[in-house]
Amino acid sequence: MKVFIWGTGNIALRYLQQGEVKAEDIIGFIETQKSKDIFYGKKVYEPNEIAKMHTYDYIIVCLYYYSREIYDICLKLDIDVDKLILADAWEWIDGSNMKKSLNSCCRKITENCADAERLFPVFYQLFVNERDIQARRYIAVSRNGYDLQEKDALIWQKDFESKEYQTDYFRYRTFELVANEIIRQKIEGAVAEVGVFKGAFAKMINAKFPKKKLYLFDTFESFDVDEFKQELTLGRCPESFFETFKNTSVESVLSIMPYREKCIVRQGLFPNTAEGMENEKYAFVSIDVDFEKSVLEALRYFYPRLNHGGVIFIHDYNNRFLEGVKKAVATYEEEYVGGGILKIPLADEGGTVVIVK
Ligand SMILES: C[S@@+](CC[C@H](N)C(=O)[O-])C[C@H]1O[C@@H](n2cnc3c(N)ncnc32)[C@H](O)[C@@H]1O
Repeated sequence: MKVFIWGTGNIALRYLQQGEVKAEDIIGFIETQKSKDIFYGKKVYEPNEIAKMHTYDYIIVCLYYYSREIYDICLKLDIDVDKLILADAWEWIDGSNMKKSLNSCCRKITENCADAERLFPVFYQLFVNERDIQARRYIAVSRNGYDLQEKDALIWQKDFESKEYQTDYFRYRTFELVANEIIRQKIEGAVAEVGVFKGAFAKMINAKFPKKKLYLFDTFESFDVDEFKQELTLGRCPESFFETFKNTSVESVLSIMPYREKCIVRQGLFPNTAEGMENEKYAFVSIDVDFEKSVLEALRYFYPRLNHGGVIFIHDYNNRFLEGVKKAVATYEEEYVGGGILKIPLADEGGTVVIVK
């Protein structure tokens, strides 16, 4: 039996260590966006390279959440979807969603999962625990929803129903509730995000504050190269990070904004891109730039310009990999002469900290 393994991250490593497939049975690895040539002593391929191959029996997908995306890539490239071994059917987690979208793709993914359970039980077991955790979270969230969901809640409605928003429900829903308070208390000022990437969070900021100017700060071409290299040397991010965050553009971000006319794009490296707008004040700011120096620069810039009652979300404050974020906040707390910066950490996926002025 010859297999490909899709994924070169921790899940793939954990699976390989269990020894269900032998090294000689692995032809190679697949990365959706190739970041390395060799992994675990084998060649790494892009999906289109394996489309022409017929020498393998199965593709074992060692990724959480991406079953549907991978399934669609395979269909597009004419890769035999019957050979996909998937154990993560996102649609299983949310029963109601599953019913709504029980189309042939979901059915097929479910069948592929059944194959995984039968043919690769060790692999399947790896995913069972994760699915249980997700299912528990879903139950907790839906109970919470009974108390908290308002008729006008964005999260889990229409555009905000995707896995991106569901997997980090606490971040997005907390933001909505915070935004409601800002609106109710009539906090003045613009809103902003530093570190926009594809605009997932910015889209919700724009949706919640249709009347406020939304400043979007990003290079839209990934991190500052020197800062990235430094963080990489410190072991605080993976090598693939730089390439990952190149995959966006100003146009694609603007195209998903519900109130595009309120968006002001400041493309380039922050804080240079904030020149000339020193007098602007803010009601809400999201800082999501991952690295120490950039987080510190963003805090230095925005905290003094935050109106009383305004809020800053700093993503990744309690992220165990991106350790620079917490360091930057500590540095700023020491240097800020006003003192007494009020912080509430969230138990969301990235470990956001909320600052209220
Ligand atoms: C984790 S992503 C942001 C994710 C985004 N907030 C979302 O909702 O998906 C980090 C982004 O910060 C940007 N970035 C990091 N440092 C920056 C800087 N100094 N100036 C401008 N953009 C920066 C990167 O280009 C990248 O797109």
